[in-house]
Amino acid sequence: MSIVFHHTPERAKIWSEKFAKARPDIPFHIWPETGPKEDVRYLAAWKTPDDLATLFPNLEVLFSLGAGIDQLNLANVPPGVKIIRMVESSLVEGMIEYVLWAVLSFHRDMFRYARQQREHVWDGSHNRPAKLYRVGLMGMGELGSPVLEKLVSFGYECRGWSRSRREVPGVKSFAGAGELDAFLAETDILVCLVPLTDATRGILNRSLFEKLPKGACLINCGRGGHLVQDDLIPALDSGQLSQAVLDVATPEPLPPEHPFWNHPRIFLTPHIASAAQSDTAAEAVLANLRRYEAGEPMTGVIDTGRGY
Ligand code: GLV
Repeated sequence: MSIVFHHTPERAKIWSEKFAKARPDIPFHIWPETGPKEDVRYLAAWKTPDDLATLFPNLEVLFSLGAGIDQLNLANVPPGVKIIRMVESSLVEGMIEYVLWAVLSFHRDMFRYARQQREHVWDGSHNRPAKLYRVGLMGMGELGSPVLEKLVSFGYECRGWSRSRREVPGVKSFAGAGELDAFLAETDILVCLVPLTDATRGILNRSLFEKLPKGACLINCGRGGHLVQDDLIPALDSGQLSQAVLDVATPEPLPPEHPFWNHPRIFLTPHIASAAQSDTAAEAVLANLRRYEAGEPMTGVIDTGRGY
């Protein structure tokens, strides 16, 4: 019984050291080296090799190296294989930092001041308190809920929207398609953290933007596929949205001629909002392996019907 690790050599080094110490009984192979293919029971990967089913006929568990699993190419994963998303503390901390930075930057007009600096304009506005900003976060899951807790502690008026009802103290909660419009109507700063599934692909589109109060800010730290990219610039140019902060795009990286690069109201970051740290991620997988071997439920199991 063995595990194959499929990602960068830097990460592989940290993982192999952790596994050598904690589980010397499980041979650890670094892709493209796999050892005997029929021995491979576990695969830890960001993206999966194409011919997964024939490659590892006895694969039992696929551990995603990301919080998201859409990049794994699920069509490729044989039906009996359990899929586990990454749940670990640094991934949560990174997302809290990124969303807080983006919300604070919009609230305190930093994107406007950055534009003004380029034009040598010294023009400050009176500060408005955090409680006057309504932050609406879509996706109250493992990442979204702790992000909301932190935003509440900074004094923002917080709302959360999820497919099924979730409660976070201090947050007004909305659920399902039927409550989406009401959620949007009272959201000045929209944070997208829903998983990318067939139900959420393209959810950030013109019709959704029109349901937000005029001048709202969009922060997308989900996936590029959530956004209908052609709808964004018209929404910004008409003033319906006043700022977009995008950590994700389609494709990544965006081609050099893409209009997002130069738009004055788009702030782009190269998919860095948050990533699992190798040491804590390896520990999370080791803990899940122990649960699996003991016949206990693992954390982060994907419901393939639901897509997350
Ligand atoms: C990053 O995008 C992740 O899914 O962890």
